[in-house]
Amino acid sequence: NFKHNVAIIGASGGIGQPLSLLLKLNPNIGELRLHDLKDIPGVAADLSHIETAVSVSHADGRDYGSTLKGADIIVVPAGMPRKPGMKREDLFNTNAQVVYDVAKGMAEHSPDAILIIITNPINAVVPIACEVLKDAGKLNPRKIFGCSTLDSVRTNTFVAGIIGADPKTVNIPVIGGHSGITIIPLISRSTPPACIEGEQLSKLITRVQDAGTEVVKAKAGKGSATLSMAYAASRLTFSMLRALDGEANIVESAYVLSDVVPEVKYFATPLVLGKCGIEKNLGLGKLSDAEQKMVCEALEPLKKEIAKGEKFVQDQ
Ligand code: APR
Repeated sequence: NFKHNVAIIGASGGIGQPLSLLLKLNPNIGELRLHDLKDIPGVAADLSHIETAVSVSHADGRDYGSTLKGADIIVVPAGMPRKPGMKREDLFNTNAQVVYDVAKGMAEHSPDAILIIITNPINAVVPIACEVLKDAGKLNPRKIFGCSTLDSVRTNTFVAGIIGADPKTVNIPVIGGHSGITIIPLISRSTPPACIEGEQLSKLITRVQDAGTEVVKAKAGKGSATLSMAYAASRLTFSMLRALDGEANIVESAYVLSDVVPEVKYFATPLVLGKCGIEKNLGLGKLSDAEQKMVCEALEPLKKEIAKGEKFVQDQ
């Protein structure tokens, strides 16, 4: 197999460090390029002692050139996390600029790379990256992903608990966005089928939608989900690596530029991954009446967040 280069922007953070560790263990990665504004030489030295063939390089500062040039996949967990009482949307003012700068760097140094954005609010910052790349004439909509994978990971785990299954055998697509009611877990499409109805179903859906806040509260001011987020981002990155190496039928849900719902330009749906990024968008598929209603209710908040991201780029 061809060994791929993966860049992580924000690699010394709460997500960045465990994510770097998980990626260091993947033999399909040739080089890990770690970037952060702080602490990065220490993280890189520490990681480089692990007995795998993945080489580790590092850089800091506002110039992303040496990190991004030649990167096949760029994963971005850079930016501020939530504190108790904050919604993901409250992070926009700080994190919009981070994604804007990284997208500018990508347009200049690695326009053909695959970009996986973890930075919140995902619903609004993925449009920033796409607009920046579009303005530079470098947008490939098949290659830009908002990492909403943790919503599927959480849904699989919670449903496995309810039906008494091994979480690894449960697979449930989550569509929409990555914040509050825009998160739409499709329990009707669970494999294996999960017969969860009525109050139990509405409680489950609310728990999935508020799962990030559950972690923020439990961490009591020390940030948001890092370990589970790192796991989820590594799952999406590993799936992408397998697809780049030619494995067929790899499906992951992610928040992407899409025309599956005419009212909004970005929407998470299950995607078949391939050598060029998204090979096929599987669309909404069959929804229950309740799931269809959730899609309708997600449109207004999604539209607003997407418009906010687009406006940020216009105002620069
Ligand atoms: N370029 C590179 N690194 C940056 C930049 C930037 N412009 N801005 C911030 N960083 C780095 C910080 O130095 C820090 O090491 O990003 C890292 C973020 O780490 P944490 O503050 O620990 O935040 P974390 O919990 O990892 O969350 C990061 O992911 O899920 C989202 O909402 C979460 O937006 C947040 C992001």
